[in-house]
Amino acid sequence: MALTAKSFTINFDQMTGLSNEKESVKRNLSDMKNMFYDVEALEEDIKNENDPQVYEYYDLDIPKTDGDIQFGSSIVSPGKVGNEYYMTKGHFHTVLETGEVYYCISGEGYMLMENPEGDWQIEKFIPGQAVYVPPRYAHRSINTGDQPLITFFAFRADAGHDYGTIETKGYRKLVVEIDNEPQVIDNPKWKQ
Ligand SMILES: [Fe+2]
Repeated sequence: MALTAKSFTINFDQMTGLSNEKESVKRNLSDMKNMFYDVEALEEDIKNENDPQVYEYYDLDIPKTDGDIQFGSSIVSPGKVGNEYYMTKGHFHTVLETGEVYYCISGEGYMLMENPEGDWQIEKFIPGQAVYVPPRYAHRSINTGDQPLITFFAFRADAGHDYGTIETKGYRKLVVEIDNEPQVIDNPKWKQ
């Protein structure tokens, strides 16, 4: 018989998104060197702003089975590298045919998605609203506001994360600030 998880509870603060029962995984600018397209601005910011944190999220010790659900909060700081908003690295799931749901607790921003076939989609994060990420789509949270963007996610626990594809190829689309407005542009550095 397969091992099953025990029931448990864990808190995520409604204001900060943080849990005081578990360490978050933190990503600073220096962890995201191939992610932002303005490499010079990124190096400057790492130096001048003492390598600020871009986001953090929780990776709970959930059994990686097809019946379990991985979940937690994700908090993206407000900020920009050049004119590109702070965001998560973004990932495909290793099991590509895996959807995910993100519920926006507070802040403002976007969920940017793209599949290997080249289709892309974008949805706005609005507090109190959920975004459904369909199977096959890489997904990245982008904070276009001046407060932390706090979301809560849940997906099949055996799906895994594939960060490598995005790290090597980049995203097809980027969200940058033009004339004080978020706009989607083609990534000049995207590799076929
Ligand atoms: Fe995911």
